[in-house]
Amino acid sequence: MPIELGDDERAYTSNEAPASFADMLGTAAYRCAAAAMRLGVFGALRDGPLPAAALASAAGVDERGVTILADALVSFGYLTGSAAGYELTPLSDRWLVDSPYTTVELFWQRVMFELWDGLEDSVRTGKPAVDFYAWLADRPETSRQFQSMLDEHARLLAAELAPLIPVPPGPARLLDLGGGHGRYSTALCERHPSLTATVLDYASALGPGGDRVTMVPANYLEADLGTGYDVVLLFNVLHGHPEAGNRALLARVEAALNPGGVVAILEHGRDAPGPADVSFLRTFSLNLFHGQNGEVYALDRIAGWLAGFGEVSTTRLRNSPTQYLITAVAQSRGAG
Ligand SMILES: C[S@@+](CC[C@H](N)C(=O)[O-])C[C@H]1O[C@@H](n2cnc3c(N)ncnc32)[C@H](O)[C@@H]1O
Repeated sequence: MPIELGDDERAYTSNEAPASFADMLGTAAYRCAAAAMRLGVFGALRDGPLPAAALASAAGVDERGVTILADALVSFGYLTGSAAGYELTPLSDRWLVDSPYTTVELFWQRVMFELWDGLEDSVRTGKPAVDFYAWLADRPETSRQFQSMLDEHARLLAAELAPLIPVPPGPARLLDLGGGHGRYSTALCERHPSLTATVLDYASALGPGGDRVTMVPANYLEADLGTGYDVVLLFNVLHGHPEAGNRALLARVEAALNPGGVVAILEHGRDAPGPADVSFLRTFSLNLFHGQNGEVYALDRIAGWLAGFGEVSTTRLRNSPTQYLITAVAQSRGAG
């Protein structure tokens, strides 16, 4: 996107030249930005411009290599070049140095340039060619970026979501499946002084927990979920499983809930007002299919899986308009 076409390059927009070539350049730009972030090139420029030799020494990299990379980044709009040396542009200054957004960027770069290598196999066979969580487990740094991206997103949404989730007065129990960082459980416990929460996730994903927030390392597809819960959170979980897996999981959740208890589901919808949001949702869905046999499901399809529950309600989030909270009330104890 930072590349601006020149007046004599309009052939790309009129289909006289292949616009996919511009996409190739966009991909190169993204890859170059990844290299600059990982090598600390942007960070070395945070206090002002540096000539190539000083930039190479500050980042601890080869001078000729960094010059060629920086020149490419100038053409892509991530740096400017002048007699004073290379300098951050407003884009790289605001978003790619010392910003929480850097974790989003660093995570998706690994996904695009490494995880998607077998995308054709997934599409050809209809089965995920890679196991996303096994792939993450082999990459502790990418795993940390993934968790910190989720945690940052939860930090923005927890205050909006907590009041939308009905918790009965008095001592109540919450189960947070795939709750990782635990931020949603913590926000709900802060709001409801008699609530205790259990967060169940892979060990590498679990945050520190707290007095009333217990972290339990487990695979929720296999673990005994127990019974007697008033609320079960399934936040950004259903999109990681195929339909049959979700139906089975929801039946186990229903059995774990007290009658009148609530399952609260957070998911992305498939529609968005702008083409960039729609493109992201479809990119996300493809990634879920490729690595987890999941996808971004239509909301009415999710509602269909809740047929055994009563009172299904759906709320679009103000602070993340492509995401929805779906709540449903358990009617009677399920079969288990
Ligand atoms: C997309 S993240 C959502 C995290 C959190 N609920 C949120 O909304 O921010 C999905 C979480 O589910 C966990 N997870 C996926 N499959 C799991 C499984 N079979 N057992 C336990 N945890 C699992 C992942 O480790 C990850 O923390």
